[in-house]
Amino acid sequence: MTDQTMMIATTLDELRTARKLLAGPLGLVPTMGYLHDGHLSLVRRAREECQGVVVSIFVNPAQFGPKEDLSKYPRDLERDLKLLEAAGADLVWTPTPEIIYLPGFQTWVTVENLTLPLEGAVRPGHFRGVTTVVAKLFNAVGAEKSYFGQKDAQQAAVIRRMALDLNIPTEVIICPTVRESDGLAMSSRNTYLNPDERQAATVLYRSLSAARAAFEAGERSAETLRKIVIETVAAEPLAQLQYVSCADYDSLQELERLPGKTLLSMAAFIGKTRLIDNFILG
Ligand SMILES: Nc1ncnc2c1ncn2[C@@H]1O[C@H](COP(=O)(O)OP(=O)(O)OP(=O)(O)O)[C@@H](O)[C@H]1O
Ligand SMILES: [Mg+2]
Repeated sequence: MTDQTMMIATTLDELRTARKLLAGPLGLVPTMGYLHDGHLSLVRRAREECQGVVVSIFVNPAQFGPKEDLSKYPRDLERDLKLLEAAGADLVWTPTPEIIYLPGFQTWVTVENLTLPLEGAVRPGHFRGVTTVVAKLFNAVGAEKSYFGQKDAQQAAVIRRMALDLNIPTEVIICPTVRESDGLAMSSRNTYLNPDERQAATVLYRSLSAARAAFEAGERSAETLRKIVIETVAAEPLAQLQYVSCADYDSLQELERLPGKTLLSMAAFIGKTRLIDNFILG
């Protein structure tokens, strides 16, 4: 469908009508907009693997906590649409909160154990908002494949589990984290950083890299790897570590030693901006 102009839908009816014009298999890329190369890498991957590429742009109020940045979350729909057209998207769905959450809305999707640690522990209610909206996107679009970023490692694991548990017939594909040239993981929230903070923000990548170097040199104590991250972040005055985790990749349970596939993940505040990043070890 790359030779056609990109379709844009707002309401559910518009989405259904536009969707029928696309040949399958369909690939869905859910986003909150303010797109960067990380998002576009997912769109390009979907473009390679699917006949029809659907991108959703929805800043989901339900996944923001009361003290989080919903009202100042960055938005630029016009720019996003240009980028998506260039990346070869066929259909962009931009619902409003009123379309997603009808008056009287009271049906939520929750994934249990996988949402308890890490992001779930410090952002209560966050994953309930994510899984509910992604389940709705899956139902509305009916795509055979869906694309998520490794940057949000726990989110990817939770959504994969949800699709399996609810028999949602979409293959959940997790794509590598796209980084700036100095290692900072691309994120819409990077735009909040002032120049000094932007410099300091490389501490996430630097601390994960230091821990990975120790792992590659034979270190297998999870405690030691966490300590390397803690100490690297402590040396950066503008950064405040929120958590560092060295967990089993599948269960997300904290490890003592690393024999198998491990998720080394962290969240840190750079000034007032909260950033996350992770590496997979082993
Ligand atoms: N740097 C990146 N590389 C690969 N995928 C990414 C990257 N950043 C985000 N994604 C993925 O894009 C999808 C939409 O994410 P989202 O719109 O929340 O972007 P974001 O940059 O993470 O924004 P924010 O930092 O505000 O959460 C998710 O699947 C997310 O994992
Ligand atoms: Mg995000």
